[in-house]
Amino acid sequence: MSHHTQREIRYNFEYERRIKACFIGAGGHAFRNVYPALRYAPVELLGVCDLDIGRAAKFAKLFGAERAYSDHREMFEKEKPDLVFLVTAYHPDGRVQATDLALEALAAGAHVWMEKPTAASLVEIEQLHAASAAAGRMVMTGLKKTFFPTIEKLKDLMGSPQFGPLTSINVRYPQSLPAFSDRADLVKMQSFLDHIYHPGAILHYLGGSIERVSYEREETTGATVTNMRFRSGAIGTLHFTAGQSGASIFERVEIIGQGANAIVENGTSLTYFRKADLPAYGRAASFLQPDENAALLFEPEHSLGQLYNNNLFYLGYVPEILHLTDAILEEKAITKGTLETAGEIMKLFEFYRRTDAGVTITL
Ligand SMILES: NC(=O)c1ccc[n+]([C@@H]2O[C@H](COP(=O)([O-])OP(=O)(O)OC[C@H]3O[C@@H](n4cnc5c(N)ncnc54)[C@H](O)[C@@H]3O)[C@@H](O)[C@H]2O)c1
Repeated sequence: MSHHTQREIRYNFEYERRIKACFIGAGGHAFRNVYPALRYAPVELLGVCDLDIGRAAKFAKLFGAERAYSDHREMFEKEKPDLVFLVTAYHPDGRVQATDLALEALAAGAHVWMEKPTAASLVEIEQLHAASAAAGRMVMTGLKKTFFPTIEKLKDLMGSPQFGPLTSINVRYPQSLPAFSDRADLVKMQSFLDHIYHPGAILHYLGGSIERVSYEREETTGATVTNMRFRSGAIGTLHFTAGQSGASIFERVEIIGQGANAIVENGTSLTYFRKADLPAYGRAASFLQPDENAALLFEPEHSLGQLYNNNLFYLGYVPEILHLTDAILEEKAITKGTLETAGEIMKLFEFYRRTDAGVTITL
């Protein structure tokens, strides 16, 4: 099965069937990356809600919604949406606002598309799970990294006869882990919770569930290197590169198979080192491999006004919405951004919260 999505995108107004939707949250991320993505989804935006009614009204006008609200309950009651988008933030105690809102949207009979983080604990994910099952409605978290075309391509390589199964993986991402004594405090953990969903999503998508973990931490920056073993038998490292330059590229993902490996750098550059023998040691005068063994490089062109060289697409923002709207329209289950996946990421989060450096834990 190919994970890499090669589809022709339809514009919002070209769909015959559009899902009646409401949106809670008129903040910065939603403005930049989520409302604009609805231009390419089968969604009819009925209501926009924000605690700040002025912002809700401006967003409604700009993004073509019928009405603006400051009270989501009133919006659910009047609009009766089949799908609710949640792009909100944190309660003062560090809990995730969207967790409670998702429970209310399910109770109102709607499917939910929500930004990460889904919740701040595994227990809350289990509550969402139960509510989703009881309502017969889906909850999807927008794990955008699992919709990057490059990361989907890595998934396609894994398991192919040329690449072999995943044997090891390295993910690098800048993030600081607070000192152990601060980790009981969810507010101090907010940035870590906000970000662990990104590398956590990649690790789970490519490696599956993690069996065993331990990490080392650097005191001045809070950088960490984590060792892990997946249930599949593959192994991995997660390098949280706190301390890196603000001018640096963020992330790098490398997967190794059996005689082949592939690297995604900076989200959009994929190099696939295909199976090849090392040239005769101490004797080969040229490093060039025959064309059929040579590395493959995938990068977008940045000349044409295409969709694929727009961050709404290469950062997965449109595809992560289409994954849920396709599932709703075709009455099938989502396979990405599921509550199971969110639960696996929360297990990793809770491991860091509860475990000091140097201790190996079975998850
Ligand atoms: N995937 C990504 O690339 C990415 C990037 C940035 C942020 N995010 C996520 O997006 C979310 C929002 O981030 P942001 O920076 O836009 O936050 P923000 O604080 O700018 O926006 C949140 C908005 O939600 C509104 N809100 C909160 N509770 C509400 C309620 N009950 N009813 C109505 N409105 C309510 C607030 O008034 C605010 O306008 C966070 O979960 C963040 O982790 C994801």
